[in-house]
Amino acid sequence: MSRSAHPAGPRYADVLPEGHYSAPPTDLNALDAKVWAQTVCRNADGIVTVGGVDVRTLAERFGTPAYFIDEADFRARARAWRTAFGPDADVFYAGKAFLSRAVVRWLHEEGLNLDVCSGGELTTALLAGMPADRIAFHGNNKSTEEITRAIESGVGRIVLDSFQEIVRVAHIASSLGTRQRVQIRVTVGVEAHTHEFIATAHEDQKFGIPLADGQAAEAVRRVLRLDGLELIGIHSHIGSQIFDTSGFEVAAHRVVGLLKDIRDEHGVELPEIDLGGGLGIAYTGDDDPREPHEIAKALTEIVSRECEAARLRTPRISVEPGRAIVGPTAFTLYEVGTIKPLERLRTYVSVDGGMSDNIRTALYDAEYSVALASRTSDAEPMLVRIVGKHCESGDIVVRDAFLPSDLAPGDLLAVPATGAYCRSMASNYNHALRPPVVAVSDGEARVIVRRETEEDLLRLDVG
Ligand code: LLP
Repeated sequence: MSRSAHPAGPRYADVLPEGHYSAPPTDLNALDAKVWAQTVCRNADGIVTVGGVDVRTLAERFGTPAYFIDEADFRARARAWRTAFGPDADVFYAGKAFLSRAVVRWLHEEGLNLDVCSGGELTTALLAGMPADRIAFHGNNKSTEEITRAIESGVGRIVLDSFQEIVRVAHIASSLGTRQRVQIRVTVGVEAHTHEFIATAHEDQKFGIPLADGQAAEAVRRVLRLDGLELIGIHSHIGSQIFDTSGFEVAAHRVVGLLKDIRDEHGVELPEIDLGGGLGIAYTGDDDPREPHEIAKALTEIVSRECEAARLRTPRISVEPGRAIVGPTAFTLYEVGTIKPLERLRTYVSVDGGMSDNIRTALYDAEYSVALASRTSDAEPMLVRIVGKHCESGDIVVRDAFLPSDLAPGDLLAVPATGAYCRSMASNYNHALRPPVVAVSDGEARVIVRRETEEDLLRLDVG
């Protein structure tokens, strides 16, 4: 990263840089169904509603900023994944995208399994009644305490991530007098077309055991030798916010290659393969995500074809979508505070949240959309940047958007597609209080994660 000073910006030159912004949309009041939860629409007064409840009522009852999750949409998406893959496959919702006890209950009721990657996620899952054998435990550095708790509670599988962990899990399982079902996570050497920080199957990163140089084959040898472990399959996760299935195709090809080598060397046909999560969603109208049934069809065909070619029985497939289930089902509601027009540049609109409730824009250059939600407007479009109230200029929620030029303090703005990795990555930066998550369904709204209070913050500060 350059540490040198840079020119002061386009305001001091005659022209705005090329590609500074695209043309404004024709109708600023329209809600693009691609990016909004299923039940979101405008009512007769032009106010955005979700689950039949309008955002003014929601803001009054629950305050802002707040995340509102469309329960019917969440359930429908979970069901769509389950149905698309059918009874011969398993769908593990990736809890890291967003986890709460209510969500665990919805998943359980809709027949999904759960992927957890920490003691905290495991506790939440078990407390909410997810049967332990439907839980997969992940992580590149699981603690001894986490491994012990996972085995004691009877999780369906632990996904082994390193050579050291093979020995660690085997030792703990044996000392507890049990045999733990495990998968080995391999890195297949695929460069997913996504941000570097969320791509996971290229070789120079921390996850999994490389297929390269026979390392995964060696991991299999070691696991098969240990009494405390029962090897049920191979796991691969290539990254996040991926739109095409070509990366999965390469991954499946390489994983099936390993299954074949295992059969040839050990005479064992492993019964399962997990292709991870990572399917992309629409954050703006430019994104074109695939439907679960298309993904299921593509992945199932790839695996069957590869197995047929290798003369292997087709293993049971599992997948781990997180974002694709919860991402589109929620929006964040903010209240407009300060509005600052910058001549010849754009107007900065400050809202009452920011990088503490959505770090994704700052961290990954993520793109979001935004709509004036508390009313409609026929005013001319103005180019805006939606920023938060934190003490740094990178505190951006929506980098480029158009909103009506009569926008005023007190208006409510909704940012769609914030269901995944927003609340779960929220922070207390500047002692911000993390917003609540409110589930809305059939005209009813109820808090499923309450807003933090200053007492919550101070409880940790022992003085
Ligand atoms: N399975 C494994 C092993 C994973 O590591 C992940 C995500 C998933 C499944 C679910 O991926 P999804 O379907 O949600 O893309 N914070 C980043 C995303 C990090 C993803 C980490 N692992 C973001 O906000 O984009």
